Amino acid sequence: MKPREIRPGVHAIGAIDWDRRLFDALIPLPDGTSYNSYLVRGSEKTALVDTVDPPMQLTLFENLGQLGVDRIDYVIANHAEPDHSGTLPQILAKYPEATVLASPKCRGMLVDMLLLPEERIRAVEDGETVSLGDRTLEFIHTPWVHWPETMVTHLREERILFSCDFFGSHVATADLYVSDEAKATEAAKIYYAQIMMPFRSNIRRNLERLRDYEIDIIAPSHGPLHDHPEVIMAAYGDWVSETPTNSVVVAYVSMHGSTMKMVEHFLGALVREGVNVSQFDLTTVDTGKLAAALVDAATVVIGAPTVLGGAHPLAANAAFLVNALKPKTTYLSIIGSFGWGGRAVEQLAGMLPSVKAEVLEPVLCRGFPKKDDFTALDGLAATIAAKHRESGFL
Ligand code: FEO
Repeated sequence: MKPREIRPGVHAIGAIDWDRRLFDALIPLPDGTSYNSYLVRGSEKTALVDTVDPPMQLTLFENLGQLGVDRIDYVIANHAEPDHSGTLPQILAKYPEATVLASPKCRGMLVDMLLLPEERIRAVEDGETVSLGDRTLEFIHTPWVHWPETMVTHLREERILFSCDFFGSHVATADLYVSDEAKATEAAKIYYAQIMMPFRSNIRRNLERLRDYEIDIIAPSHGPLHDHPEVIMAAYGDWVSETPTNSVVVAYVSMHGSTMKMVEHFLGALVREGVNVSQFDLTTVDTGKLAAALVDAATVVIGAPTVLGGAHPLAANAAFLVNALKPKTTYLSIIGSFGWGGRAVEQLAGMLPSVKAEVLEPVLCRGFPKKDDFTALDGLAATIAAKHRESGFL
């Protein structure tokens, strides 16, 4: 992608990664991603805000060449993760006068991870500003979005917030700005769910701080820019709140159809009780979509058959994911079928210590579910609805 002008002298010069399908060797990228980098020219000095993932560095250098950039004074490193910082060594080599500006924690991480020379990096304090002549950059420390060193940069005169991962989304698109707010918000929610949800109390504080700033454009380092920033900021406000919605996530795996039959019956019972449900087959699940559903769900139910005397590994994987993401889930339960016994419930329940939720009586059946088992599932659905009602979710 060629340089694109956001304001006179302010350009998006990053790279779009249309074909990438996995991030961190973990996160699915069905829609690719981008590594946004920005060039800000002032009357006296020039700043580059974040770089790109190293495999895409050619695009960044081509764009700098196309804009005739022969000097960079400052390189702002909002975040040390290599998809944004990874091309710093090459930038510093090409622009020997450039100084990296980063939070104190980020400075140490850049030295550790990229072996950057310490003398090329200046730590900037929270609220510190740097002048480019007729333009001013302010650095706002926003820790745990999603690493401890993260900050954002506010271009005061243009009211642009360079937010790095904050408000980002893994989307490859030729659109510079969000064109479909609903679609963009869903993509941003998936992004938030997978890396930021465990830190939502920190993110809530950071979000509140940003309300003091005049922001016309949010320019993240993944996905399109937000020229109606109030939309994404309001969505984040919902996501980081501690109030879940009247919904149940049912994540299940079934080997021979018995647990599947239980899930089908259970979902029907929940719907009859007036509870919203999302169902995820763990053999084919897109973990991004599962994570996004966990953002709001008041209840999570894992459906697991017993295999080799314990929980099915895919169910264990789901429990591990839920525990790592620490959603605001208030109630948990387990349903499933077993052949001759086993420890699936104890194992799964023991894998969720970080989720501060009340565990509701599991429903287990021997073999294929029978009348009493369906009655027990109806009972669990009724209990969940009653709990949601008591808590004000329903
Ligand atoms: Fe896009 Fe946390 O890096």
